[in-house]
Amino acid sequence: MNLNPKLKGQSALVTGANSGIGEAVAIALANEGANVVVNYITHPENADAVVKRIEQNGGNAMAIKADVSNEEDVQSMFQQMYNKYGTIDILVNNAGIQKDSPFESMSLEDWKLVIDVNLTGQFLCSREAVKEFLKRGVVPGRSCAAGKIICMSSVHQVIPWAGHVNYASSKGGIEMMMKSMAQELAPKKIRVNAIGPGAIETPININAWDTPEAAAKLLTLIPYKRIGVPEDIGKVAAWLASDESDYIVGTTVFVDGGMLLYPGFTTNG
Ligand code: BGC
Repeated sequence: MNLNPKLKGQSALVTGANSGIGEAVAIALANEGANVVVNYITHPENADAVVKRIEQNGGNAMAIKADVSNEEDVQSMFQQMYNKYGTIDILVNNAGIQKDSPFESMSLEDWKLVIDVNLTGQFLCSREAVKEFLKRGVVPGRSCAAGKIICMSSVHQVIPWAGHVNYASSKGGIEMMMKSMAQELAPKKIRVNAIGPGAIETPININAWDTPEAAAKLLTLIPYKRIGVPEDIGKVAAWLASDESDYIVGTTVFVDGGMLLYPGFTTNG
């Protein structure tokens, strides 16, 4: 039981919250007292399990199915959220996919799918949230800001990634979308930031950590010599959504065990 919840009385929507990083973020926000929408597109049973876990911890949550790359789905998801919780204070744009392939054989379909979900999905959800933030404004006593948006990016908004051109492009796009939104919306008291996770143990990268050989190889890229866990991101998201980070605007917080420190240069160069 958290005696001093940082997000009391606030409502949050986390996209792609039925597994991995999104699940940990949903749980962390709920632990800080927020009502949480657990968005999902497949595996409703996993979304229900996240809702149940939050309720067992004494929190409030609901699962909503929506494809974040579909405008109508997104608008209907926000409406369902407002019907239950009345408004939105925090949006975590987390839903994301990888469709990896060598560049020359990357299909247009796989290019579009990744850009649609990872980048356009964040645009569509942010636009709905911003409409509500502007309409409602700051609620004194609830938060200093009229709304907070956290965009889940990646170290690959900085590190080029061969074999993953669609994914890296989507993350590079998220950085500039996030910063431009932050610049435009900060005067309206809307805080837009990003989190850039490194290698976090989730289903998206299971091949990179689920055997001792793969994990050892991955660790050569991580100066801190630990593969991340979803809770590492959940804690940062809860803080970035709270008034404790009220003066952080338009920044990406990297949570990567030092992956961005170019460990290949430790003994080279
Ligand atoms: C990717 C993971 C990868 C990590 C570090 C993330 O954005 O989704 O598959 O392990 O970056 O390279």
